[in-house]
Amino acid sequence: MCGIVGYIGEKQAAPILLDGLSKLEYRGYDSAGIAVYDGEQIHLTKSKGRLKVLGELTHDGETMPGTLGIGHTRWATHGEPSDANAHPHMNRDKSIAVVHNGIIENYLKLKKRLIDKGYEFMSDTDTEVVAHLLDRYYDGNPLAAIIKVMHRMEGSYALGIVFKDHPDQLFAVRKDSPLIVGHTQGGNIIASDVPAVLKYTRDVYFMENEEVVCIRRDSLEFYNVDEEQIEKEPVHIDWDVDAAEKGGYEHFMLKEMYEQPKAITDTISPRIKGRDIVIEELGMTDEEIRQIGKIMIVACGSAYHAGVTGKYVLEGMAKIPVEVDLASEFRYRDPLLDEKTLVIIISQSGETADSLAALRESKERGAKVLGIVNVIGSSIAREADNVMYTWAGPEIAVATTKAYSCQLIALYLLAMKFAAARGTVTEKEMDAYIDDLKRIPDQVEMLLNNKNRIQKFANRYLAAIDVFFIGRGVDYAISLEGSLKLKEISYIHSEAYAAGELKHGTISLIEDGTLVVAVLTQEKLYKKMLSNMVEVRTRGAFVLAVTNEGNDEVERAADYVIYVPRTNSYFANSLAIVPLQLFGYYIAVGKGCDVDKPRNLAKSVTVE
Ligand code: G6P
Repeated sequence: MCGIVGYIGEKQAAPILLDGLSKLEYRGYDSAGIAVYDGEQIHLTKSKGRLKVLGELTHDGETMPGTLGIGHTRWATHGEPSDANAHPHMNRDKSIAVVHNGIIENYLKLKKRLIDKGYEFMSDTDTEVVAHLLDRYYDGNPLAAIIKVMHRMEGSYALGIVFKDHPDQLFAVRKDSPLIVGHTQGGNIIASDVPAVLKYTRDVYFMENEEVVCIRRDSLEFYNVDEEQIEKEPVHIDWDVDAAEKGGYEHFMLKEMYEQPKAITDTISPRIKGRDIVIEELGMTDEEIRQIGKIMIVACGSAYHAGVTGKYVLEGMAKIPVEVDLASEFRYRDPLLDEKTLVIIISQSGETADSLAALRESKERGAKVLGIVNVIGSSIAREADNVMYTWAGPEIAVATTKAYSCQLIALYLLAMKFAAARGTVTEKEMDAYIDDLKRIPDQVEMLLNNKNRIQKFANRYLAAIDVFFIGRGVDYAISLEGSLKLKEISYIHSEAYAAGELKHGTISLIEDGTLVVAVLTQEKLYKKMLSNMVEVRTRGAFVLAVTNEGNDEVERAADYVIYVPRTNSYFANSLAIVPLQLFGYYIAVGKGCDVDKPRNLAKSVTVE
């Protein structure tokens, strides 16, 4: 996920581009760049680091005169954050400049062909392919060249393009990545999102898939892929500027919850080829996978909770013993590792100090380390032997939602890959797992659309003092995360218990009206869970159950039931977490808490 902007008009472009990018930093912030055309040359400035660095380098845009330009703030996908990999990218004679948001999935194939034709690449990005392809197809007609390139690219893209031969035109196109065009008196702007243009206009055109726009200083022309001109109507935006940065959502946390279907799809789709799980970045042959003696999953916070689910799934599917450890414990407990141990470090930020120390400790002790990381080029990503990225995009809210969901998916994929290599599941079972996995994004979407029911329920519990989450097996793992979501943002004390353990002490805390959230998605454990629910209910608890559709008998043991769609028992967490996230969120909103920035917490914890 990255942010792009472009401007053509009567004013100086660079300050407008920098200002627009500042509103898009939530989409990525590991490097930034702008290209401005002064009528003679397309000048380029780009740099690793926050946008601030680019502002300093260009004296807030003053050193880059010109009234046509494009800009980019990057969230690295292909190639680490660096000056060379920052956008814009240009063709060989610097006559075409491109900014891109999205992923060109077939870029390696295209890159190879371009290299065979003599093109030289200056970066590791997929985007540079676009600049060279445009160079190859351009014969004086930019629109025709862009459409030819669109036919060659697979994947997602929003592109802003400047041609030196056309000083009066800015081009943009999109497929599966957002792009809007703002029309103002004396100039036009493109951007990935509305906040970047609100200062200049509230009338915007939302580009649809495979539409191209040719923008002049005083006019806009939209085309389809057949080069036919099409008519579009602008939409008037009346959000306030603050709300706009959150895409109209009240909080980043809500926005990020709603981004889960896409983030999950992005994490799954590059790794399923036909009926096979392909994780190229794993760096392990099937024989090496068969040699694994033990897996140790090490992480902190929600990433640790994802790891607890991972234990059930990896052991169940691939039949490999798995230990899960908190990084802060692991690093000081003299862990027993050898060269047959695979250590998996899970981290959204890739910078958590304890997780990083655990990684170094594991490597020193001879274990192979795989990182499951969201932030490209982060310390854990760099230092792990191999890294499997979750494609959640930047997460702003301190309480993780979409990154956690993608960590679960990465673990399922890993378990499936290991199971296939070790022959612990049949082909038929694997086919069913693949089908279930592909259904998750739509099922999550459906659950999100049911948010009103959860909001209504949450509003009844704003005054709660203690809440208990109980579950068995995979449902225990989800209870841990559900409980953390609630307490970290609403400041209501809550605890997660393995349901069978509650009676060994904690049940003494249950009194009239205590809310107990019971998660029961595991068919073979239903009956046991129902007994545990009855145990707390007879002591006065109010029981909210989260269970699978059709499991109506739960209504007998619960006061309120939320149903989630059916999937296999391993993947159930990905669905059950959605109502629990929404529950925590709406309680915090109802109590007036600072949802995105809870007290005392930080998104990336770089101290021990
Ligand atoms: C902090 C965050 C949590 C996160 C944990 C681990 O405590 O508030 O949301 O789960 O760190 O972070 P990581 O970046 O390693 O996943």
